[in-house]
Amino acid sequence: MKKEQVCIFENTDSLVVHLADWLTARIAACEGRFALALSGGSTPQPLYALLADPERARRIDWSRVHLFWGDERFVPYDDPRSNYLMARQAMIDHVPIPPANVHPVPTDGTPESAAARYADLLREYYGSARLEEGRPLFDVNLLGIGDDGHTASLFPGTPHVEETRDWTVAVAGIKPEARISLTLPALDSAAVVVFLAAGDKKRSAVSRARAHDPDVPSGRVRPQGQLLWYLDRDAAGGDA
Ligand code: 6PG
Repeated sequence: MKKEQVCIFENTDSLVVHLADWLTARIAACEGRFALALSGGSTPQPLYALLADPERARRIDWSRVHLFWGDERFVPYDDPRSNYLMARQAMIDHVPIPPANVHPVPTDGTPESAAARYADLLREYYGSARLEEGRPLFDVNLLGIGDDGHTASLFPGTPHVEETRDWTVAVAGIKPEARISLTLPALDSAAVVVFLAAGDKKRSAVSRARAHDPDVPSGRVRPQGQLLWYLDRDAAGGDA
């Protein structure tokens, strides 16, 4: 099994169909709980909607799936910017996942206290305060990538990218709304990280990230397990 693999598709429709098939098979092959970290932004929305399609949803044992987020905007859950709201409307409200299996990032109180509570929630699920090699927190961690090479809410040139101890971080002053993000140690604690990117605007960032350019946070992601790139032709450019 190759550590890093790239899958390139003609368009986003075929990309999300293949990724939904892959994820469904991955969940079926796993015994017990399946921790899936969702990405925010717009790119994954069609994937989430496809997973909620009745013909597909019935092939997933949702009672074993636990949902987390790689990052969240510090806004109420009913705010159109909320990553949780997007996933709820596209998928969660349409599948038989037990509510106790859905673990949204807290977005009340202060960003710092919300980040701390999210870390507590993750440690509670994981069962230890220390991330262990060979025992990843996430079975699959779905990530997006920004045009600038950010991933989750780890933005280029910010100190949050350098965090090596905490699992979460509050990110303020970069986007209009504060963010709560997993740090690289938590993002890396995954059996598989899947980067999902589409469109030619992402081409440069994808190319730099695949080259592991340390100046782009997405290039710094080094999962315990596999690193997969699910790209459309536009995002992949000539780097097939
Ligand atoms: C967020 C995401 C962020 C996103 C990228 C790509 O909260 O916005 O987690 O990291 O994945 O910005 O966003 P698009 O898919 O909208 O291009």
